[in-house]
Amino acid sequence: QEKIKQLSDEIKRLKKERNAVILAHFYQRPEVQEVADFIGDSLGLSQQAAETDADVIIFCGVHFMAESASILSPGKIVVLPDEHAGCPMADMVDAVQLEQKKKEYPDATVVCYVNTSAEVKAECDVACTSANAVKVVASLPKDKPIIFVPDKNLGHYIFTRTGREMILWEGYCNTHHGLTAADILKAKAEHPDALVMVHPECHPDVVAMADKVASTAGMINFAVENDAREFIVGTEMGILHMLKKRCPDKQFYMASKKLACPNMKKTTLEKVHQALINLEPRVSVPEKVRKQAIRCLERMLEIT
Ligand code: 13P
Ligand code: SF4
Repeated sequence: QEKIKQLSDEIKRLKKERNAVILAHFYQRPEVQEVADFIGDSLGLSQQAAETDADVIIFCGVHFMAESASILSPGKIVVLPDEHAGCPMADMVDAVQLEQKKKEYPDATVVCYVNTSAEVKAECDVACTSANAVKVVASLPKDKPIIFVPDKNLGHYIFTRTGREMILWEGYCNTHHGLTAADILKAKAEHPDALVMVHPECHPDVVAMADKVASTAGMINFAVENDAREFIVGTEMGILHMLKKRCPDKQFYMASKKLACPNMKKTTLEKVHQALINLEPRVSVPEKVRKQAIRCLERMLEIT
């Protein structure tokens, strides 16, 4: 506890010295969230990254998030405290495979989940996050099919909400896809009064059983605003920190003990400290790719 306090104080001091801003995702370790200037879902984090006037962004999340920050704020130093913090789902599609798919459907509008590399974004018309996916897709021309990469579960969820023809990719999140309908039934049997909230990266069978389907920020708002006292949580367990903080007198139960993202947990307070000292490891995007990739992120932010 004393060590955490010392390190956190040192991080706050260095942050001012470097004119740095620390952005953290809700799945980050509690002590990392506590030193952040902004904690959010993927959408909130990209909005912050686009607007900040800091010189340095310390991105406590995974690689594609830091990359998006670098695309949106090219003049800034973007540091990812653990260079190996990736997103396995984002790695399930690459630009060459996507180009191939686009040839099969030359008329399609190409939509990417933000959980993609800069090279893939450069091939897409518009990006989305779990918070705005339905809105983004609903805004697209009705006479064209939609190629959606890489999350087949989020893609299916968008289809159920918009009725739009979607050509889905075979990608999924290892963490969310493992949650089963049986897990939800078991949790509901143990906590019959609890409402079920899940992330749209979950399997369609799980999503169909939920009282609320939302991004991480959306789930937190739902828990704050809803009169219910108990909630079953179908997303990565790091979200419990903010749920308990915002709703200290409500109860939250994980839908499964397996809901952990190893990549989100790679960022430690020690690594954030080192990142501020060394301003490494950096994430940057070659200018040619950046110019192509920024269009789909800007279009997403405009629609939102
Ligand atoms: P959101 O925070 O945007 O809901 O995303 C969840 C996620 O899995 C990020 O990788
Ligand atoms: Fe990627 Fe899933 Fe981890 Fe999010 S929770 S970073 S989608 S692996």
